[in-house]
Parts: sequence; structure tokens; C-alpha cells
Amino acid sequence: MMLTAPLLTFPKPLIDDFPAMVLANTVLGNDVYLLSLKLTQGLHQQQAFGCLAGQFFMLEIAPADETSSHCLSFDFRRPFSPLLFDASTQQLQIYYKVVGEGTRRMSYLAAGSTVQIMAPLGNAIGEGVNPAKTLLVGGGVGVAPLVYWASQQKAMGLPVPLLVWGSRFGPDLQALLPQLTDIFTEHQLFLASDDGIVGEKGTVIDLIKHHQSMWAETVETIVVCGPTPMMKACVAYFAQAFPTARVLVSLENHMPCGTGACFGCVVENANPTGLPLRVCYEGPVFEASQLVWEAKPSCHH
Ligand SMILES: Cc1cc2nc3c(=O)[nH]c(=O)nc-3n(C[C@H](O)[C@H](O)[C@H](O)COP(=O)(O)OP(=O)(O)OC[C@H]3O[C@@H](n4cnc5c(N)ncnc54)[C@H](O)[C@@H]3O)c2cc1C
Ligand code: FES
Repeated sequence: MMLTAPLLTFPKPLIDDFPAMVLANTVLGNDVYLLSLKLTQGLHQQQAFGCLAGQFFMLEIAPADETSSHCLSFDFRRPFSPLLFDASTQQLQIYYKVVGEGTRRMSYLAAGSTVQIMAPLGNAIGEGVNPAKTLLVGGGVGVAPLVYWASQQKAMGLPVPLLVWGSRFGPDLQALLPQLTDIFTEHQLFLASDDGIVGEKGTVIDLIKHHQSMWAETVETIVVCGPTPMMKACVAYFAQAFPTARVLVSLENHMPCGTGACFGCVVENANPTGLPLRVCYEGPVFEASQLVWEAKPSCHH
């Protein structure tokens, strides 16, 4: 039976700012880092960090010329998913890739410096998704919200879903394995790399094809997060290989404000009469069917 529980549409706890101290910022691979933070309670609502899986936060880091260790610059606020959060220690881990100015500055953050986190933002993976019948498919750092969701299921004593994770570079997969093997058993974790150094050689789709006949019978929901071309290819493949499965995608678009105010993150609505969808507000988790995946043919005059 396909579950149709709605995606949660708005965060339950109030949005707050959480000052955080950098505990460690470790390079794990090709421009990929693990940032460990210790959060304090929210500045305004005095609440604990409450990101549900799928939700995200805006990380604020100091501008390059900022001499103070505390940061107030709006310009360098960037959206990220939690990778892991330990409520008992208030430690948050962020798995990130350096792609531009903001993430390059993140990579320079030293232990002891402070950042600020605005959370929780966006919607969440619906509570009705059955983890025992879910396949998570991550590409590169897009694995973060999927790992976070699986870790929350495990913490609640629920079954852990299957995870297929792919990367261009096998050693990048290897470097995060200690975090993953705390959550997934070897029967729940499937790795694919373009170089074939770790896991199966090839893409996540190549890997899923090998297991398709078995998984087609059990998988009700597939959740995908990764680079846009990978998600696009996955959505097309799942439509024919898992025609009855519910497919959710977690988008990682640019976000100027992260709070629904600027419309700088919109994506096209598959409903032709619907408004464009704000990834930060209606998303970042969408039913794949809510979105337009094929570019419309351009008009040449
Ligand atoms: C909800 C959400 C969760 C995210 N979680 C993570 C995470 O856990 N780990 C992580 O590494 N990243 C994550 N991202 C993406 C991250 O926010 C961007 O990589 C970051 O904002 C880039 O900032 P920058 O200043 O370094 O790059 P910019 O200077 O803004 O961009 C540099 C270059 O990268 C391209 N680029 C930047 N961001 C993106 C993007 N999102 N998609 C495609 N191209 C892009 C730009 O077009 C440009 O060419 C998430 C994004 C969202 C919306
Ligand atoms: S980032 Fe401003 S509306 Fe989404």
C-alpha cells in the first residue's frame, strides 16, 4: 500500500537563532568537510534546536574582514541540513562541500570560533513515511538529510531504512563510514562510486538496478537528495522501475533569505495553474510529481 501522509508544511517550533561554537572542522575528502558544532539554546524563544528531518537551517558566518569571533553578517548565511544532532550534548554535525565563497569561508572556521544558526526552516519528511519500506538515495553531500532522518528513526526505536549513497570519489564515501555504520548495518547501506574504489563502480542508478527486482516488491517510498542532474535521472528511472512508489525529493537550491520572503529560490510548479514553489518554504521536501523535471523546449524565431 502506498502511504499518502502529507508532508509537514510548517515547522512546529518557532524559528530561533542558535549561537554555536565550532568544536572541529575536519576535511574528509575532495573539498568535503565535517563541521562539528556545540549549540546553546535559542536566543529568543529559549528553546532547544528542533530541526525535523528534511528541515534545514541558515548558517551565518563572519564576513572575511570580520575581526570579532561573533558574526552578524546577513551576506554569508547559507542553507544546510543537519547530518547528525545529539540532543544530550547539543552537538550538531554538518557534512558540506566547498563550492563557492560561503563554503570556502566555512572551511576556514577554527575550533573555538562561533557561528549562528537560524532554525528550524522549511518542511519535513512526512511522519507517515514507513522507514521499513523506504529507500533513501543520496548523491554526494546530499546524503546529509537522509542520514539525519535515518538517525532519528533509529533513535525512536523504529526500523532503519535502506540507504544507497553515491559519490564521484570512493574515498569520500569511506571517510564518512564511521558515522554511517553507527546507524546502518551492512545490509542497509549500499555504496557506489564513479571510480569504483569504494562500493560498486557506477552511479546510484546502476547500483539500484542490481537490486531492483527485490526492492520493487518492498519499497513504498523513495527519498532522493543530491545534485540536480542526479535527482532528475533518478526521478525518471524510478517512474518506470518503481511505478507504484511515492518519490520524494529534497532540493538544495540557492537561498537568499531561507524564510519565504524573497522568492529567490522558486521552482516551477507541475500544476500549471499553481504558483511557483519556494524551496525554502513549501519545500525543501517535495513529491517529485509536484515539480517540473523536463525543461520546456525553447522557442527559436
Ligand atoms: C535545504 C538545503 C540543504 C542543504 N544542505 C547542504 C548540506 O548538508 N551540505 C552541503 O554541502 N550543502 C548543502 N546545501 C547547499 C549549500 O547551501 C550550498 O552549497 C551553499 O549555499 C553554497 O554557498 P557558497 O557561498 O559556497 O557558493 P556560491 O558562491 O553561492 O556558489 C558557488 C557556485 O556553486 C554553485 N552552487 C551553489 N550552491 C548551489 C546549489 N545549491 N546547487 C547548485 N549549484 C550551486 C553556484 O551556482 C556557483 O557556481 C543545502 C542547500 C539547501 C537549500
Ligand atoms: S530563499 Fe527567499 S523565498 Fe526562498
